[in-house]
Order: sequence, then structure tokens, then C-alpha cells
Amino acid sequence: MTTASASGLALPVVDEALAARLTERLQVVEQRLSEHCRARTEYVSKAAAHLMAAGGKRFRPLLVLLAAEAGDNPEAEEVITAACVVELTHVASLYHDDVMDEADLRRGADTANARWDNNVAILTGDFLFGRSSELTADLGPEAVRIQAQTFTRLVEGQILETVEPAPGDDPLEHYLEVVAGKTGSLIATSARYGALFGGAAKEVEEALSQYGEIVGSAFQLSDDILDIASESDESGKTPGTDLREGVPTLPTLMAMASVDPADDRLKELLRSDLTDDALHAETLDLLRKHPAMDQAKAYVVAQAEQAKALLSVLPAGPVRDALEAFADVVAVRSA
Ligand code: IPE
Ligand code: IPE
Ligand code: MG
Ligand code: MG
Repeated sequence: MTTASASGLALPVVDEALAARLTERLQVVEQRLSEHCRARTEYVSKAAAHLMAAGGKRFRPLLVLLAAEAGDNPEAEEVITAACVVELTHVASLYHDDVMDEADLRRGADTANARWDNNVAILTGDFLFGRSSELTADLGPEAVRIQAQTFTRLVEGQILETVEPAPGDDPLEHYLEVVAGKTGSLIATSARYGALFGGAAKEVEEALSQYGEIVGSAFQLSDDILDIASESDESGKTPGTDLREGVPTLPTLMAMASVDPADDRLKELLRSDLTDDALHAETLDLLRKHPAMDQAKAYVVAQAEQAKALLSVLPAGPVRDALEAFADVVAVRSA
């Protein structure tokens, strides 16, 4: 078994030939990405290359390449371009996200807001969005429309996260809408772009897009579980950031729904300001051993199963196997 990944996300691809193709094409994407980060001035180039060079799992470009394998023309130049578009959009959104979340660690490196300041981080994010849009224009009007709609959804998700659910609205529904917008949208587009530019049939493109939407949301849900469960040397980020910032996540929402009086202290803590170090540590400790963690993990596994069912549109074989493995990796990374 070979692992096809630029770094980090170990995607087990049983088929040697497929693994070799994906690895080779990811290297081309990698090379292009570093070129796309270059700006007119050294200062901007440095800020733009900062997070790209720090690594990352390259989950979205890998999905573009893999979905393209479902078509007749996975080697198309547009597939490489599309892979660059989604990673540039993703990285741009990370620059902005770290400002919103006041995060100081990303991909094991200082965030741009910590290394420089918020203005630099916001404008560098804009620069990368600009680069991504330039490239999307090379893919034609349909790709531009898809990219624009994706970006709108992503930003709406990010904004919705900062807003309380309306009175009477279910907080869990609200959260799932946030997650679908901020993360599901771009991962859905990664799968769609791959299928579209790899020359797959329209019904395959639709199914893979839906698959990406579910896998993408599940990916965010497991990331939120990891924010509580992991140590930073595993995730490259500071654990507990969501708690500190008061961002609700699947485990916290599930714990808040508990009617067991034994959970009263945890629920009280979850309602309070957790920027205080001692309160933050107490909450993290209580949450880590709370059944809501297992409940949240089980939800993610069920989502991955739903996504895999959509793959029945593909013939049995290495590509379908790899897409199934991709969904499994997402589900088990937080297990
Ligand atoms: C981070 O995405 C933001 C989320 C959607 C959870 P990734 O986990 O894909 O981050 P990198 O690209 O590997 O750094
Ligand atoms: C990131 O969301 C989503 C986007 C960048 C659009 P989070 O804030 O939950 O992700 P991390 O934990 O910082 O990676
Ligand atoms: Mg964040
Ligand atoms: Mg955020």
C-alpha cells in the first residue's frame, strides 16, 4: 500500500499506479502553488508564501485530482489549475480565519496575524483570493460561476458562525449550516471541479459534488472534535481555540443538550467566558471525558457512510476505493 499525499493526510491508495499518478501530479500542483504565491514585491511574496510553505494536508487539491480520475481525461491541464484554485482559496480563507479566531498557530507555524499583524493577514488573504480568481478565469465562465458561489457560501458560513441562532432555532441545525457553508462548500467544489475537468459524466459530477459536501462537513466536524481532543503537535494548531473563542462545536452542542444534573458544571462553564486559563483548562478536561465526544465521533462516522453511498454511481475499482478511503480517513482522524 502506498500513501499519496503531499504531507500529513495519509490517504491509503491500494492501487500502485493510481497512487503514483496522484503523487506525481500533486508535485506539479505544489510547484505551481509556490509560483502563484509570488508577487511584485518581496514583502507580499513572503507573506503570501508563508502559510503555503508551512505545509498543510493539501486535502482539497488531492480530492480534485482523485475526482478527475472518475473521468476520461484525468491528465487535463485544467485539472491541475483547478487543484491550485481550491488550495489558494482555502489558504486565503485561513489567513482571514486566523484573524477572526485570533489564532496564533497554523500548520505548525506562526499565523500571519501573529507574525505580522491583522492588516497584513487580511490583505494577504485578499491577494491569494485574487490569484485564485485569476486562475479560475482560465477555466472559463462555468468555473468562475461555481467559484463565486462557493466563495459566497464560505463567507456566509464564516459570518453565520459569529451570529447566535435566532430565538427558537435549533443551535445544532445552525451549527451544521455554518459548517456546510464554511467548509462543505469548497470541498464539494473540489470534487466537482475534478469531475468536470477530468471529463466525467454530468451525473458523476453531481454525485461527487454531493459526496464532497458531506465529506467536507464531516471533515470540519472531526476537526472540531480534534480541537478538543488533540495536542498541538498533532494538529499544528493550538488546541482548545474554539472553546476559548466561544465557538460552538458538535461536542459542546451535544453536551449542552444534556439534561443530566451531573453536567450542570460543564454547561455553566460552556456558557461562561473561557479566555480565563483556569476555567478553560477545567472545561477542556470535563469535555474530553464526556460522552458527547463519542456521540460526536459516531455522528461523523455516520456522515462518512452517507457520503460513501453516493459513490455507487462509479464502477467498482481503484478510484472508487480511493474515494471511499478518503471518506474513511476523514471519519477516523478524530476517532
Ligand atoms: C483547516 O483545514 C480548516 C478547516 C476547514 C478545518 P485543513 O485541515 O484542510 O487545513 P490544512 O490545509 O491541512 O492546513
Ligand atoms: C476554518 O474554520 C474554516 C475556514 C477557514 C473557512 P475553523 O476556524 O473552524 O478552522 P481552524 O480550526 O482554524 O482550522
Ligand atoms: Mg479557525
Ligand atoms: Mg474559524
